Amino acid sequence: MFRISNLRFDVEGRTIVSLPEYSIRRGQHLLLLGPSGCGKTTLLNILAGLLKPSAGDVAFDDRAYANLSDRALDQLRAENFGFVFQRLHLIGHLSTTQNIALAQTKPRPARIQALINELGLADHSHRKARDLSVGEAQRAAIARAVANEPKVIFADEPTSALDDANTHRVMDLIFQCAERSGSTVIAATHDARIKGRFDTVLEMVA
Ligand SMILES: Nc1ncnc2c1ncn2[C@@H]1O[C@H](COP(=O)(O)OP(=O)(O)OP(=O)(O)O)[C@@H](O)[C@H]1O
Ligand SMILES: [Mg+2]
Repeated sequence: MFRISNLRFDVEGRTIVSLPEYSIRRGQHLLLLGPSGCGKTTLLNILAGLLKPSAGDVAFDDRAYANLSDRALDQLRAENFGFVFQRLHLIGHLSTTQNIALAQTKPRPARIQALINELGLADHSHRKARDLSVGEAQRAAIARAVANEPKVIFADEPTSALDDANTHRVMDLIFQCAERSGSTVIAATHDARIKGRFDTVLEMVA
């Protein structure tokens, strides 16, 4: 699904990410694990086409990012990827339902309603995102990430600010949603508690 070749990312003369050859299969769940500053977010963003590497390239389903226009890459991302960021990036003045709808390339209200019920947000669907509790906002962000039934769910530090019980709940939700739509999960974290959930762990060093 992903093929990485001769990838490098440099900042100010320092190489932050270096990955000569790497492939990620469809349905494989990959964790990028390592200490703060080792380059996890950088690599995740390159895989997602949000950041251009200094050298080398990433191909998703045989489409090499370097050959795509910015617009084509935006479209590839919108159609195939869902995102859960540590800062949830919900739009505060929009409702839960509206925030989830933003992620759909084709409007599917029934899908949104089903997700809202499934993630226990039925009582909060019309509430503005800024008025949700942290846990509710997190579930809304997961609903938004999977609303488009993406082939890949990218999650950057989905659990590092959570206690053990909520870490389990959030990971259960992400993997349940991934299972249902057959998505691959690619996550980055320094939180070794979630290591066991993934079939592949790429240990990164600072
Ligand atoms: N645009 C940039 N300009 C300068 N330095 C950068 C830039 N982007 C990343 N870095 C540096 O590259 C290193 C890797 O950053 P990155 O955010 O990928 O780390 P991380 O593994 O995700 O860390 P954390 O666990 O704290 O989120 C850090 O030292 C960071 O300061
Ligand atoms: Mg990071």
